Amino acid sequence: MIADILRGEILTAVRALGIAVEEGDINLEHPADVSFGDYSTNIAMALGKKHNRNPKDLAAEIAKQILKQNNENLDKVEVAGPGFINFYLAPKFLINEVNKVLLAKQCYGSQAANGKKVLVEYSSPNIAKPLHVGHLRSTIIGDAVANILAFSGFEVVRDNHLGDWGTQFGKQIVAIKKWGDEEELEKSGDPLKMLVELYVKFHEEAEKDSTLEDLAREWTKKMEDGDAEAKRLWEKIVAWSMMGIKKIYDVLEVKFDTYLGESFYMDKTGAIVAALEKKSFYKKSEDARLVFFDDDKYPPLMILKKDGSTVYATRDLATDLYRKETYGDELTIINEVGGEQALYFKQIFETEKILGWFKDGQRVHVMHGMYRFKDGKLSTRKGKVIWVEDILDEAIDRAKEFNPEIAEDVGIGAIKYNDLKRDSRGDIVFDWNDILNLKGDSGPYLQYAYARTQSILEKAKKEGVEALASAKSFDRAKDEITLIEKMLYRFPEVVARAAREYAPHHIATYLFELANAFNGYYSDHQIVSQEANSSYRVALTAAVGQTLANGLHLLGIKTPAKM
Ligand code: ARG
Repeated sequence: MIADILRGEILTAVRALGIAVEEGDINLEHPADVSFGDYSTNIAMALGKKHNRNPKDLAAEIAKQILKQNNENLDKVEVAGPGFINFYLAPKFLINEVNKVLLAKQCYGSQAANGKKVLVEYSSPNIAKPLHVGHLRSTIIGDAVANILAFSGFEVVRDNHLGDWGTQFGKQIVAIKKWGDEEELEKSGDPLKMLVELYVKFHEEAEKDSTLEDLAREWTKKMEDGDAEAKRLWEKIVAWSMMGIKKIYDVLEVKFDTYLGESFYMDKTGAIVAALEKKSFYKKSEDARLVFFDDDKYPPLMILKKDGSTVYATRDLATDLYRKETYGDELTIINEVGGEQALYFKQIFETEKILGWFKDGQRVHVMHGMYRFKDGKLSTRKGKVIWVEDILDEAIDRAKEFNPEIAEDVGIGAIKYNDLKRDSRGDIVFDWNDILNLKGDSGPYLQYAYARTQSILEKAKKEGVEALASAKSFDRAKDEITLIEKMLYRFPEVVARAAREYAPHHIATYLFELANAFNGYYSDHQIVSQEANSSYRVALTAAVGQTLANGLHLLGIKTPAKM
């Protein structure tokens, strides 16, 4: 990538001046305004301070040295302000990059396989109840992170850590036995809906009759003890729930390689407890067993309850050991889970570190904030809880206004983009007007920009104008350099950053700026014409379309050719 080349040039230049410097010292940024160059570094200011030299003079010396090195990718190097060095990329480089987009096509921005494995765990709903909006966020963000890592050369395993064990099943079994009808559930096309109703009913009735909770506990215990009837019903409930949940994954077009939920790890917790028992940080407290952290860094983490039963954390430890054994010691594991579990994951990561399972950086919690609804008011039909299904249905309904044929692509794209355009850790204030706004930072706006590139290309084809960004068109193109070329070459860099930080929003932000730049270009230029410059303009349009598509696909967003 060009940024690495520039870093190399700076390193060579500074060292040629007899000053010690490491690659990590070099900070390269894009000035907010491209008239100040394509890249800027503050290295002269940092080194000036360290070596007690005037930063401006030092910047001038470094700039002079870089120019001497004669890198053909650079047009100009200038000193600005208190000692910034600004770099202007050569038109030849910029145009060549346009050409690269056209040659690499759907691979533009990707990296060759790096041999490293990453497991991305996301969605992971607690089943026997419908998907809740928090799980929608996890599904969307986790899927994008997995896409970005795969595109960046990692070998990615997508895992859904289903919450398919626990007290909700005991309650559900009681509800089915009391008010449900297994035959009806079996025949129903939408058994999850019926399960939800039963679940709600259980809670209503339990308020009046506390023996129901005891009964539910008994059934949960039976499940743990391997009782045949409990097992039979548990299996049914899982299957009925998954029917509903998979429908949602189909609509969202997300896929998993494995669905290894908590139940899968139940019989693997014994080994964890046995391993912990040998450790001094694992202690008994009031008959429960907990991990205690040095200097009370975190509160103790419970592993076994007083009655000896395992908990969520026991299963998580079993999960990660299984993953390590299955995919190798170098595996990186990412959990995309809500921010409310941040402390819990710190405890888990620390425990795994003291057990010697993983090193720093191998365990990552990518977290998301909450959905908030404008005026605290819920905009869905069912009342108190907001179900993913309702949100998706409404998005698709509303998107019919754009074009009924692509309502699903637009509605789902809008929901995904609305999530991915911001740092995942923040909350989302849900507002349909923002989500589907054709003029704002929205999914449909980007899809529209893409569709525009396609209709221009269609027109060019009809009028016989070929896309050309090669040496042949170079002389003409160099007088035409616009903001677009200054954005296109950055895409691989943006993808790399999104992969490094597990942060899809960098891609969203970039795509929005690229779409804006293109819309500006489109209103100022006649793209398709019989003028000699048209073939370059068409090439630029094709490169923008390709880059928008590549970026949107990483976000899991479809790109209809017409809006
Ligand atoms: N099922 C959990 C929930 O809904 C999320 C699971 C997260 N993953 C994990 N390995 N604990 O809160």
